Amino acid sequence: MTEIANGVFYCGIHDRDRKVFDQLVPLPQGTTYNSYLVSGTGKTALIDTMYEKFGGEYLDMIRKSGFRIDYIISNHAEPDHSGMIPRLLEEFPDAEVLCSAKCAENLTNMLHVSPERIRTVADADKLELGGKTLRFISAPWVHWPDTMFTYLEEEKFLFSCDYFGAHYTDFELYADESPELANAAKRYYSEIMMPFRSFCRKYLVKVEELSPSMILPSHGPVYRNPSFIENLYDEWTSESVSRKILLPYVSMYDNSRIMCEYLAGGLRKRGVQVATADLMEADEGELAMELIDAAGIVFGTSMVLTGPHPKTVYAAYLTNILRPKIKFYALVGSFGWAGNLSAPVDACFTLTKPEKLAPVIAKGKPTSSDFAKLDILVDEITSRLDSLAKAP
Ligand code: FEO
Repeated sequence: MTEIANGVFYCGIHDRDRKVFDQLVPLPQGTTYNSYLVSGTGKTALIDTMYEKFGGEYLDMIRKSGFRIDYIISNHAEPDHSGMIPRLLEEFPDAEVLCSAKCAENLTNMLHVSPERIRTVADADKLELGGKTLRFISAPWVHWPDTMFTYLEEEKFLFSCDYFGAHYTDFELYADESPELANAAKRYYSEIMMPFRSFCRKYLVKVEELSPSMILPSHGPVYRNPSFIENLYDEWTSESVSRKILLPYVSMYDNSRIMCEYLAGGLRKRGVQVATADLMEADEGELAMELIDAAGIVFGTSMVLTGPHPKTVYAAYLTNILRPKIKFYALVGSFGWAGNLSAPVDACFTLTKPEKLAPVIAKGKPTSSDFAKLDILVDEITSRLDSLAKAP
């Protein structure tokens, strides 16, 4: 355990070898599961616990500390933070779990924690530990409906759960404020928090009003300078988009690739930033990060049997559920004999509702007529970007 302030300790574990989170999110640097111990003159609380895989190591750390745990604060029931609650309740038979009502329901269903061991708390409720006061701040939907933050009033420490987190392991305890950390936090935001952007924005205002001296999230380093991560969230959660499109493509015989390169060249000549992503290589996080500020997305695809390449449909599905700020989308591609490239992509957009621009689809090698249609698509995209730039 590492002491952060008098009676406040970090007891997280670094999982450098983990390659993927939730069987979806690639982890280029692994991750950490952060748990914090806060001890007052009378009582001791743990704020979030540990992924069960590291339960033995974690329990050893708590036992060696010599503290008797009176309270387990569960800011959020996802098992990377709650997994050790059942074993801690066995180890400390008088301990009580404090969490939101929704979190209590989740802990009961997911981990079979006995409701008799849980006390639900509401926004602004407080817990006195003796010279240390924990205040609970309701913060549903960053990123589960059960989430709350915990605030240590005397030190002005904000335990923000997954909010402000980063899958990042190259640190001792405190944020180094490096470009690598900013990138890891950006990746985390895009994958985990972006679907809840409006909530993130709302809580950002709340956090800035609170003006914590430190932000202590559940993944990644502790922010001694909260404005570092607050400023990044301010940028990512804003309403504005860049003069930029994302162009994910997959091309079997180069025809679709040639069309994408032509389109990208035309857009770049008009001052548009084009982030291309070869879907055979790009991971989900790379796409998600580009979507944070993209104004639109153009899918480039070959036909597989009678529809788009499955990776294109996956990219469209992912775009839809991440709910980025994109205002429009289009599709360019090539096919051999028959089929519908557009319909399966169109069908993905159920939550995110960008305007559909006319697709440009070639039969085999693109002809001069197809390139002329791509020129029109360049005009269509740039005119929308020009309008967005003028919008108040
Ligand atoms: Fe890190 Fe939503 O758990």
